[in-house]
Amino acid sequence: MADKTIYLQVDEARHELPLLSGSLGPDVIDIRRLYAETGLFTYDPGFTSTASCRSSITYVDGDNGILLYRGYPIEQLAEKCDFLEVCYLLLQGELPKGSEMRNFVTSISQHVMVHEQLTRFYSGFRRDAHPMAILVGVVGALSAFYHEVIDINSKEDRYLSAIRLIAKMPTLVAMCYKYSIGMPFIYPKRKLGYAENFLRMMMADPYDDYIANPVLVRALDRILILHADHEQNASTSTVRLAGSSGANPYACVAAGIACLWGAAHGGANEAVLNMLEEIGDVSRIGEYVNRAKDKNDPFRLMGFGHRVYKNYDPRAKLMRQTCHEVLSALNLHDDRLFKLAMELERIALEDDYFVQRKLYPNVDFYSGIVLRALGIPTEMFTAIFALARSIGWIAQWDEMISDPELRIGRPRQLYQGVITRDVTNISAR
Ligand code: SDX
Repeated sequence: MADKTIYLQVDEARHELPLLSGSLGPDVIDIRRLYAETGLFTYDPGFTSTASCRSSITYVDGDNGILLYRGYPIEQLAEKCDFLEVCYLLLQGELPKGSEMRNFVTSISQHVMVHEQLTRFYSGFRRDAHPMAILVGVVGALSAFYHEVIDINSKEDRYLSAIRLIAKMPTLVAMCYKYSIGMPFIYPKRKLGYAENFLRMMMADPYDDYIANPVLVRALDRILILHADHEQNASTSTVRLAGSSGANPYACVAAGIACLWGAAHGGANEAVLNMLEEIGDVSRIGEYVNRAKDKNDPFRLMGFGHRVYKNYDPRAKLMRQTCHEVLSALNLHDDRLFKLAMELERIALEDDYFVQRKLYPNVDFYSGIVLRALGIPTEMFTAIFALARSIGWIAQWDEMISDPELRIGRPRQLYQGVITRDVTNISAR
């Protein structure tokens, strides 16, 4: 409901545009009638000033480095909850009570297996295929296994899709890794916790089971919490746009996976590790910082900067703390990449170029170091980001589909092409 208005003068006409207020964050100018009344579009190619939807799921205050999931600060959730509790919260809007949590965990445990025929999709890929290429394919393929049982207008069907995705993503992601190293798939075990099950499917072999270190399980669970949702980021907006056409939720999430893969987005965690390996030694940090500042050099400091955070990403702080815990638990205090990352952060945060542009470490800067310490190969990092973000994608998709204001997303453009002209026959060209 609009309680304030602004006025737009176009030629002689003065147009009244409603201002809408949320519970937190900036007011928005409701421009839905703008084109009809003025014949004008707005122009915002990177959506730096555009609110694409109403949402009650996640709130990000970039200036103050605040991240809330359903109103709860990420710091408290990371400390007091586990990932499945956070999945319940993002999906249902409230933290679960004991019985609700037990029912939720039971529901998830009943869907962790994938259809045996789905395993054949993997053998169609080269062994060295990037895990994200495989994931886009196999998650999209889930549409073929559940297409007829999805009525997106049924809350129950949407909830079942969410349960299936949350439950199956660890299995599918671990299968990407096993396939890449030519090892047999390890099936999930019903009695194991979510993060523990995933680590076992990644690390166990038929001849040698794997008992996960509880510290590493907790660290992975926290990494999943930190990556679960983040408002209308590029991949979530992709899922929403795909979903606005009525597409199957698995197809929508596959589109989100494709978008997350980009190095400017979820692919950054893998790029950070590759960057740190390339820098190699603290003596070369200055060279790379200068390259990052050089407009003629496409190199950017991966894991630094953020469209919304103009302060320290709260997830990066928690990730750095998790780094310390994991490296201590593994007696890797002198991990060279972690020391290199902290020195790189120190130097960058003292450099005017980064300070003036408010470029701070983001969630991807330290996550790769933790994942590497857990024994996870670099090319799997973004797939694990996708595993975690699947709950955010499906919760945002569910919110959109149940929104009475839902319309298919169809942006317009500022056309700069050739003006109308007639076709001449090829013989005359
Ligand atoms: C994620 O949106 C989300 O919420 C995403 C995410 C999520 O949870 O979903 O938080 C996850 O994607 C985190 C971001 C991971 N990406 C990286 O770490 C890649 C490196 N970062 C940059 O590519 C960049 O900072 C972005 C893409 C993250 C943000 O890009 P913007 O908002 O479009 O910023 P910009 O390109 O307009 O940069 C503003 C200025 C420019 O300099 P000037 O033209 O003003 O002189 O800052 C510079 C940029 O050149 N700049 C960088 C830089 N990031 C921005 N310079 C060097 N190194 C960088 N990393």
